Amino acid sequence: MNEENKLSRKTVLKAAFTAGVAAPVALIGGPALARATVASGQAPELTPACDDGDDPTPSQTQGPYFKPNSPQRTSLVTPTTRGTRLTVTGYVFGLSCLPIARVLLDFWQADVNGAYDNVGYTFRGHQFTNAQGAFTLSTIVPGLYPGRTRHIHVKVQAPGKPVLTTQLYFPNEPRNNTDTIFDPRLLMTVRDVPPTAKEAAFDFVLNVPQTPGGGTTWTAGTAYSAGARVTYSGRGFVCLQGHTAQTGWEPPSAPALWRAE
Ligand SMILES: [Fe+2]
Repeated sequence: MNEENKLSRKTVLKAAFTAGVAAPVALIGGPALARATVASGQAPELTPACDDGDDPTPSQTQGPYFKPNSPQRTSLVTPTTRGTRLTVTGYVFGLSCLPIARVLLDFWQADVNGAYDNVGYTFRGHQFTNAQGAFTLSTIVPGLYPGRTRHIHVKVQAPGKPVLTTQLYFPNEPRNNTDTIFDPRLLMTVRDVPPTAKEAAFDFVLNVPQTPGGGTTWTAGTAYSAGARVTYSGRGFVCLQGHTAQTGWEPPSAPALWRAE
């Protein structure tokens, strides 16, 4: 997918949210379609929207119940699992709002009674975003336990980047008002799926620099081929002829080598 398609895809996704209508499947795929189709006809709130320049998703304490080495799986439920079925979908973006593939998401949460499995791995699992930067988690609405509002824990890590540890919250929970850890920026969009299930959406924004041009930052000493894309001082450029970059041949001052996008 080229840069133009990525951006138009994001624009369509946001437009679908705003209008509360389904966007073309070919552009946004399954999870986003589910989010764009709102049973009530009301557009869900964008939480948080990814706009260029937006702050990254805030971090939160991991609390006392994280366990490493969770199984790789997108579903934390079995046919006999008790609790309201919940599907959480979303995307992981970088700072330029481009989706990031192969991002590790490690989820853990309480069961329907508010208890964590500290012996085994019930309600613990990790997965990776797909090529479109999307993830889907099948779980239940976690139960409450003393001192906290309803939440899901997650660690999010783009390949080779630092780990973001945070928590996701549910709207309209009475304890959101009294939980000192609660952060409204981490509220999911949640809707009922009759007769008994729920769907939630949340998009992460990681503190990962991205090059809007789809290439890399121009660097002296690099061999560029015709058609290569770079950014220089925040502007995108396309390489017109192959060369090895040198100081003095910066894209703005080498129009024979680089065309501004
Ligand atoms: Fe917790």
